[in-house]
Amino acid sequence: MVDKNAEVASQGILDNVIIRQLRKEDLPALEWDGEFKHFHNLYADTYERMVRGLTIMWVAELPEKGIIGQVFLQLICDRPELADGWQRAYLFSFRIRPEYRNLGLGTKIVNVLENYLLEKRFTRLTLNVGKDNPDAVRLYKRLGFQVVAEEPGVWSYIDDRGNWQTVREPSWRMEKLLRNNNRFI
Ligand SMILES: CC(C)(COP(=O)(O)OP(=O)(O)OC[C@H]1O[C@@H](n2cnc3c(N)ncnc32)[C@H](O)[C@@H]1OP(=O)(O)O)[C@@H](O)C(=O)NCCC(=O)NCCS
Repeated sequence: MVDKNAEVASQGILDNVIIRQLRKEDLPALEWDGEFKHFHNLYADTYERMVRGLTIMWVAELPEKGIIGQVFLQLICDRPELADGWQRAYLFSFRIRPEYRNLGLGTKIVNVLENYLLEKRFTRLTLNVGKDNPDAVRLYKRLGFQVVAEEPGVWSYIDDRGNWQTVREPSWRMEKLLRNNNRFI
């Protein structure tokens, strides 16, 4: 049975949420009250890349509540099959606060990114998604992404205590061909 009240509430959130580029003062909110403080340096480095025009950090903000989601967009990196600066851009660090999931917010954020990229004449959006994350894979497939490769998903970062940490997350690389008004660019 469809819960009408829940539907109305989720529509209210979708209507009121602001999806915008991150400002420096938003950085602490990405740490989610400590849950993601180990990414403190990583977020600071990503912000430096944003200042240099290489990456764009996006946030979803709900008035009165604050930052409820984030996604980063790498425009160029040392792996052109992911992001090459003119055709392909790479979506990563996509996360919505649990209480705001499954309301259509993730879909709305991806749409904002796609429109931004189309304006910049990019033609493909790529991402890596963990093989153990079938919900996200299903969402991306519904949004028109296809699996194009496998990725070992091994990467490292320096945590907030200055220690190297290595993440191992075997992933699918997915890609979407961006279209404008149903026409290929
Ligand atoms: C992945 C993630 C960002 C998606 O965000 P989201 O806001 O939940 O995404 P949506 O609500 O647009 O879509 C999720 C599902 O809800 C459904 N949905 C959309 N609007 C809905 C609504 N009004 N009511 C109920 N369900 C709805 C969608 O159809 C979708 O279902 P599907 O997966 O079967 O296609 C979020 O789940 C998340 O933060 N996950 C944890 C981190 C993560 O895994 N990130 C991805 C790394 S690659």
